Amino acid sequence: MSRVVIIGGSGHVGTYLVPRLVETGHEVVNVTRGKRAPYQANAAWRSVETVVLDRAEAEKAGTFADAIRDLKPDIVVDMICFLPESAEQLAGALSGQVRHLVHVGTIWVHGPSVVVPAPETQTRRPFGDYGTRKAAIETFLMDAAQRGDLPVTIVHPGHIVGPGWNPLNPAGHFNPEVFTTLAQGRELALANFGMETVHHVHADDVAQMIMKALANWSAAVGEAFHTVSPGAISLRGYAEAVAGWFGKDAALTFLPWEEWKAKQNPDEARATWEHISRSPNASIEKARRLLGYAPRYTSLEAVREAVDWLIAKGVVKTE
Ligand SMILES: NC(=O)c1ccc[n+]([C@@H]2O[C@H](COP(=O)([O-])OP(=O)(O)OC[C@H]3O[C@@H](n4cnc5c(N)ncnc54)[C@H](OP(=O)(O)O)[C@@H]3O)[C@@H](O)[C@H]2O)c1
Repeated sequence: MSRVVIIGGSGHVGTYLVPRLVETGHEVVNVTRGKRAPYQANAAWRSVETVVLDRAEAEKAGTFADAIRDLKPDIVVDMICFLPESAEQLAGALSGQVRHLVHVGTIWVHGPSVVVPAPETQTRRPFGDYGTRKAAIETFLMDAAQRGDLPVTIVHPGHIVGPGWNPLNPAGHFNPEVFTTLAQGRELALANFGMETVHHVHADDVAQMIMKALANWSAAVGEAFHTVSPGAISLRGYAEAVAGWFGKDAALTFLPWEEWKAKQNPDEARATWEHISRSPNASIEKARRLLGYAPRYTSLEAVREAVDWLIAKGVVKTE
């Protein structure tokens, strides 16, 4: 049994990871602000120790990293590290103190791809604060791991989906109305030819990847792994599949980006731009080979579960 401290364990991934860890016999400590509950109830949570700590506040006070070390973890899973300074503080305190640090990154450490599906070795060309900072964190942590200072594995999820929150939709944003439009066979406009891609992953498959990294320590340390479904999907193919779930043909129209953007809510257009300007399409070959990662969900299967939940909640209306 190992003592696993998860920083931010009651969100999308933690909902699935915490029960997996408990069921495997680990002692689990969940560090959060205590604001959120997991998306699904599970008896495993009864044996989880909760530590209420606001990372942002504790980092400002310079106490966060020592507080994590003082919990005496064998393993730390860091779900919510967004700044290089946060990674540096934590690495400083954990060096020589833990068997394994798993850091959750993002496939947005990549900018536009070259060869697809892109391997982890693709040269990093991130843009935007989030991806740029996550790429800097990756560089720092991989360097620490490869110098032998800290046994780190990085998992880079694609767009995380599951029942309980809005999935990234076929227009490339988060308004669930797009699913209603497709389910009812109504017209949906897509940007360009609809051939840009998105790459989802079910939250339980992210949890699976973390479990595989812990179980295959020597193959996982010093490595980063794309954590996505077996295949990215084009927005057009995604829209057609969703309409097909409801016995409809997708009534799609296509507009050049600027024309499409002008007809959208600005926040939704921005979200679409963030996704299609990257058009992620990431390879899982390395994780399959080194860790035996075998995602249970294709992108469409993962989204289907989330959409079924939205239908049950009355958010998506099929008629
Ligand atoms: N969502 C995606 O599609 C996506 C895609 C690629 C990569 N990622 C990466 O995945 C990671 C996030 O994982 P997730 O989606 O499972 O997280 P999440 O659903 O956003 O959950 C965040 C967790 O962290 C806790 N938390 C938030 N702020 C905190 C703070 N200041 N101090 C302490 N705890 C805090 C939350 O609980 P409280 O609110 O109770 O504190 C919750 O348990 C990030 O590293 C992100 O970059 C996400």
